[in-house]
Amino acid sequence: MLEIKNLHASIDGKPILKGVNLRINAGEVHAIMGPNGSGKSTLASIIAGNEAYEITQGDILFEGNSLFDLQPHQRAAAGVFLAFQYPVEIPGVSMMNFMKTAINEIRAQNGLQPMEAAAFLKLVREKQALVELDAKLANRSVNQGFSGGEKKRNEVFQMAMLNPTLAVLDETDSGLDIDALRIVAQGVNALRNPNNAFLVITHYQRLLDYIVPDVVHVLANGKIIKTGNKDLALELEAKGYDWILETTQA
Ligand SMILES: Nc1ncnc2c1ncn2[C@@H]1O[C@H](COP(=O)(O)OP(=O)(O)O)[C@@H](O)[C@H]1O
Ligand SMILES: [Mg+2]
Repeated sequence: MLEIKNLHASIDGKPILKGVNLRINAGEVHAIMGPNGSGKSTLASIIAGNEAYEITQGDILFEGNSLFDLQPHQRAAAGVFLAFQYPVEIPGVSMMNFMKTAINEIRAQNGLQPMEAAAFLKLVREKQALVELDAKLANRSVNQGFSGGEKKRNEVFQMAMLNPTLAVLDETDSGLDIDALRIVAQGVNALRNPNNAFLVITHYQRLLDYIVPDVVHVLANGKIIKTGNKDLALELEAKGYDWILETTQA
């Protein structure tokens, strides 16, 4: 489904990603772990289509086509979703209008009519229940005055509403208490199916107790220096990132 080939990217002439290779098949959950500043959010932003980064080499194929041929909104319509590490507040735009616009924009790009109001409300109720999001938040402006945990849960709510083919979650666990973590994981696990895939970025192993990955990668200094199964995450937790940096000569 997703194939990242020898990806090099820079910002302001400074190389951040230095040859990332990654292949994700439908039905899989991959985790990317790594020290702060290793390039995890950069990779997520590039998949979503952030143009601040300059791609200096390599390609990203999504279902066989280069993502670089698609604008961010076209990537969303194709089924790519990014849950941000730092969700933005959008004053003056209610959650309901934001979601309705997002869904109908994606439907329009795929040649579908806008969703019927009743079907939309039903979907909202179903997905709100999934992430135990307070229904009152739906009438407020997007993320405005939401607590850290509410913003993260709202990201997973949006993901559930859009039902993406590929979801990238950038440190969705940071700042969550254990209950919120469980709820976020429950949302992700409920969406998992043989036709979609998840890329879960996390600094800590904790989230991976709840969202059990098929594959774990370690990104350090702009490169994937180690790939393994879920036990790699536990090993990292026990031994720290220094251990892996020393043993792999990154
Ligand atoms: N917009 C930006 N401007 C300048 N430097 C940036 C920008 N975004 C990221 N970087 C730099 O790129 C490196 C990787 O950052 P990031 O991808 O956020 O790492 P991670 O998410 O793994 O902590 C860091 O050195 C960071 O300072
Ligand atoms: Mg980050």
